[in-house]
Amino acid sequence: MAENRLSADDLIWPLFIIDGHNAKTAIKTLPGVERLSVDLAVEAARQAADAGIPALALFPNTQDERRSESASEAFNPDNLMCRALSAIKSAVPQIGLIADVALDEYSSDGQDGLVRGGEILNDETIAVMVKSALVQARAGADIIAPSDMMDGRVGAIRAALDGGGFSHVQIMSYAAKYASVFYGPFREAVGSGARLKGDKRTYQMDPFNSDEALREVALDIAEGADSVMVKPGLPYLDVIRRVKENFNVPVFAYQVSGEYAMIEFAARAGAFDRQAAMLESLACLKRAGCSGILTYFALEAAKLLQR
Ligand code: PBG
Repeated sequence: MAENRLSADDLIWPLFIIDGHNAKTAIKTLPGVERLSVDLAVEAARQAADAGIPALALFPNTQDERRSESASEAFNPDNLMCRALSAIKSAVPQIGLIADVALDEYSSDGQDGLVRGGEILNDETIAVMVKSALVQARAGADIIAPSDMMDGRVGAIRAALDGGGFSHVQIMSYAAKYASVFYGPFREAVGSGARLKGDKRTYQMDPFNSDEALREVALDIAEGADSVMVKPGLPYLDVIRRVKENFNVPVFAYQVSGEYAMIEFAARAGAFDRQAAMLESLACLKRAGCSGILTYFALEAAKLLQR
């Protein structure tokens, strides 16, 4: 009688990448998740493919000395992200690669956009993101995922991809991305948290709003997004459902780092059964209408579901 099902095919696994060889580092606020050097990320990609996971979402932890105010490392064709994309693409070609595009992974201040006089520069940021998306596509990204929430970035990236010979590369836009406290552990994972002054409320959405989510999604689809994302996941099931009912593109949810951490820490404290909480939270995202879920539980859940 089940109306919905969950399978490995629904799960996208986010990976944090670091420099080095055979290196992994723990993330204090994200227990059980490790940042991986490129060679270990290739191994992880192999495991993911074997478990039936269709795609990975990559996030680089850029070294301090490579970060700058101009975030120019974002379009260095040999940056950590590009090296990870091309290594995984050649070793595990069957897995899809989703490349995050935003400047917080390369900037010295942890904001997703360029900053001048305390203000985010929308159009200048887009120019950098376009260059970043192009080096990522060249390195093997199948899907470009702008997570920055600047206005007009989807259209600009689409035009650049088409012009650069990458018309087959898709765009998954973080369309309804809320200014959420639940991104805390992620910011530690990519190294942007300690630098971040202020917040991201001038470009990320107000948690009280949901009509605005529909407007953001409509704009991104009009600009050429192939799929859209709602983020975070579990606190925003109503938004996922509204997007699903109003648009006919795939909608993805991101079960973000803070959601993962809540389950993990609560389970460690003996509040509930960890595995059951993991599977129930994913089932609920599926029921709300998602075509797929980005989750740090992906590998573990995929293995369980495969059996
Ligand atoms: C930033 C980005 C964030 C996440 C994905 N891309 C954090 C932010 O906007 O500050 C959050 C993911 C998570 O919390 O798991 N471009």
